[in-house]
Amino acid sequence: MLSSKFEVSEPTDGFKDPFPFYRSEEIADAKKTLNIDQEKLKEAFERLEKVLDTELPKLSTEAIPEVNFDDLAGNDNQFNAEAAEKIKKFGVVVVRNVIEKEDAKNLLDDVEKYMKENGQDPKTTVKKHPLFNIYWSKPQLKVRHHTNMVKVQKALLNLWNKCEGLDDTVNLEQPVTFNDRLRFRKPNTNFKLGPHWDGGSLQRWANSDYKETYRDVFNGDWESFDPFCVKGRGSFTDENCSFFRAFQGWTSLATSGPGDGTLRVLPLLKEAIAYVMMRPLLDDVPDNMMPGYEPEHPGCQFYLVPQIHKKLMDAMISIPKVNPGDTVWWHCDTIHAVEEFHSGTETNTVLYIPVGPDCPNNRAYIEKAKKCFLDGKHPPDFEMPTKQDESDYQDRATLNDLNEDAKVMMGFE
Ligand SMILES: [Fe+2]
Repeated sequence: MLSSKFEVSEPTDGFKDPFPFYRSEEIADAKKTLNIDQEKLKEAFERLEKVLDTELPKLSTEAIPEVNFDDLAGNDNQFNAEAAEKIKKFGVVVVRNVIEKEDAKNLLDDVEKYMKENGQDPKTTVKKHPLFNIYWSKPQLKVRHHTNMVKVQKALLNLWNKCEGLDDTVNLEQPVTFNDRLRFRKPNTNFKLGPHWDGGSLQRWANSDYKETYRDVFNGDWESFDPFCVKGRGSFTDENCSFFRAFQGWTSLATSGPGDGTLRVLPLLKEAIAYVMMRPLLDDVPDNMMPGYEPEHPGCQFYLVPQIHKKLMDAMISIPKVNPGDTVWWHCDTIHAVEEFHSGTETNTVLYIPVGPDCPNNRAYIEKAKKCFLDGKHPPDFEMPTKQDESDYQDRATLNDLNEDAKVMMGFE
């Protein structure tokens, strides 16, 4: 039996649709072209539910793998076999002490100074959203291309593999730079960001290239699916998410732990992907419905909904306590969210720094990003013409601030 089964009612005059999910021909077409064998899919889903029923209750904050940067450096700059196996299973890892604690504290002072001097003092600015559209401060560029950061990024990319013929243009040995924002989350604040995926919404089922990534899952053979095979992700392009982030990530500049408005994840990678990809294809969900897909947010995000994803949503856990200089990384298909309330005492500050390899779509991204950097404009994927950019900010990073890694990773060499 499907534990998450729901009955779909058609709207009736005077009554609200109990499952008010968007329906469209586009969704119906996407599902049709997947050529799903319904019997095979049902059997696969039942096998999956049994595994989830065993594995989900075991998840805990303590189970999230943690690696000390010195141990990685001492292991030829790679994760050891035990850590690699855990990261592949859970889809998340905390790499500690990537930046020296004192250096991280100084970087926080520097970024706050830059923002204050340019009229966006994070200590006094009152805003609902804890993210700031700051991309080009010197401390951000420093952390993005810190020697240790690049080593961690290379180790993370080394966990991935390529599909011959499909990923030949992907270079997993060379990370390139994605320019992301930063977050100042203050104590006693609410912020709602429910369980979701980035990196694609309906496109995961509909895009002719992207859906090949999940072919094993659609074929009912989810056990064979390898989430760490690039399988076309390096060439899939979408106007709203142009960069393939092998891992999303952030670097903490403060101390924060569970309860402090931190990241929540579902640390069980392959099974969670299989669940989210298969569940809307079962025949109790109408052909023209993809619960969680919101056409008003056509970009990168796909949000889970309790009507069909409750089992996964209930299993989310918070990541462990982190200190200044620690980094957190989660696979591009790890379901994640943010704690709704910050009940701690310290502002929870992170620099978003993911990792992606040199590949066709990331190469196209860095070519576009170069000019944004030089002009202080919002980088690709964050274009907001009406919002203040950094073009007239004092002490913004320039070409002179780029180290050798930065020049290569940003496409200047
Ligand atoms: Fe996200």
